[in-house]
Amino acid sequence: MIQQFVLIGLVSISLLAVNRPSLDESADPVTGPGFNHKAIVGVEKCVDCHKHSAEVWKNTVHYKTITEMPRSPKAKEIIDKMGLRRVKESLCTSCHGTEMWDTEHNEKTVEAGVSCESCHGAGMGWVNLHGEFSGKEEGEESEEEIAKRWRASEAAGMLRPSMIADIARNCVSCHVIDHEELVATGGHTAASEFELLSWSQGEVRHNNFYTNGKENKIASAERKRVLYLVGMLAEVEVLLDALGNAKAKSVYVASHATRFSKLRKKIISAAVASKEKSLLEFGKYLGTLKLSFKAREVLIPASKKVGEFLNTFSTSIDASTLSGIDALLPDPSEYKN
Ligand code: HEC
Ligand code: HEC
Ligand code: HEC
Ligand code: HEC
Repeated sequence: MIQQFVLIGLVSISLLAVNRPSLDESADPVTGPGFNHKAIVGVEKCVDCHKHSAEVWKNTVHYKTITEMPRSPKAKEIIDKMGLRRVKESLCTSCHGTEMWDTEHNEKTVEAGVSCESCHGAGMGWVNLHGEFSGKEEGEESEEEIAKRWRASEAAGMLRPSMIADIARNCVSCHVIDHEELVATGGHTAASEFELLSWSQGEVRHNNFYTNGKENKIASAERKRVLYLVGMLAEVEVLLDALGNAKAKSVYVASHATRFSKLRKKIISAAVASKEKSLLEFGKYLGTLKLSFKAREVLIPASKKVGEFLNTFSTSIDASTLSGIDALLPDPSEYKN
């Protein structure tokens, strides 16, 4: 969640810089990716230039969820238990859809399922910037201009494939439910059996832009290792935060605690298999962590510590040294389709 607040902050700074009205953040949902709906430009805009990505996306659960989830009896049951009126409550569409501001009617609308900007960040501050070659023809920018364009796009809230830790945190902000009532009272699943490598390289994969639609590339051997580790670390960070903020003993706490223990074991196994020094040290730390209910003063700092390790690890690791974990990685037959 913390990460998203930072992003929203950056988006609003960039918007102010181009003299747009300041954003009303007070009405944003407390869960889900939390991008400001007023900075969403909408999927049609992306499709103008990224039709190959869109072709893949249209065959995913993410695309369909906005029409299919509301029709499921389970959705009705959750809504009833929560005492809500409609399935298309913002609480639900913040994770099952893309909320956007309709300037014509001055209201929040849901424009699609989980879409481009749900994963790459609300586009208003960077959509024009990132794909225009600093006002030149493609191939004519200097190295410096290219670097500057990407830096500015990132500062405006763009989540690029190279930003693996932030990408992972963003997936996890939807795939781990950090809304206690939704789980404890509503009976919503507490978390997906999420695993970043296998969940990003199956139906979600759309590495077909730079190949101009000719090939939808699978992540490299090095990237696979990082996806595997970073996905688990990002999830542990959120789980500890959710546990630290939990108010009552319920299925919410029990599920998240079970999930934490499972991931901790996997991370420690990976650390041992990798023989990588910083991972081993971190694994030792995780191993000593004691979970107990209402131990906010332990859990919140622990979440922060995991987050710090995740940032350092994801930006400094030389993944060619991590071949030790290859036997632990999910097999392509397990990629989520
Ligand atoms: C005007 C055309 C255009 C539009 C509109 C556009 N893009 Fe792009 N996008 C590009 C180009 C061109 C590149 C590659 C730039 C390069 O090679 O330096 C790119 C690259 C990307 C990348 C890869 C970045 C990387 O680090 O390699 C992502 C992700 C992306 N766009 C997402 C989006 C999303 C999401 C939207 C809608 C909010 C969008 N784009 C709208 C032209 C566009
Ligand atoms: C924090 C994000 C988040 C919020 C908020 C959320 N969901 Fe979900 N929901 C998910 C995820 C992720 C899954 C997939 C879980 C899995 O992998 O098993 C899911 C699955 C479901 C499913 C089962 C799949 C299906 O299509 O039948 C239903 C029903 C559902 N959600 C309804 C709701 C309703 C109703 C609300 C609002 C009251 C809601 N959700 C709010 C993230 C969320
Ligand atoms: C579920 C989250 C998610 C959604 C939805 C999503 N992306 Fe992506 N996108 C990613 C991830 C993650 C990567 C990096 C993939 C990898 O690591 O293999 C990526 C990669 C890309 C790239 C680089 C592709 C290449 O050839 O290397 C572009 C461009 C892009 N996305 C644009 C889009 C557009 C446009 C949409 C909407 C039609 C979209 N994405 C929807 C998560 C998403
Ligand atoms: C805006 C919230 C959101 C974000 C961000 C998000 N997801 Fe999802 N994802 C969902 C929801 C909700 C579902 C379940 C929809 C349903 O079942 O109706 C889902 C389902 C999926 C599925 C299908 C699972 C199945 O059981 O078939 C995969 C795979 C997936 N997500 C991968 C990812 C990856 C990888 C990322 C990050 C790159 C990501 N998601 C980011 C909300 C999100």
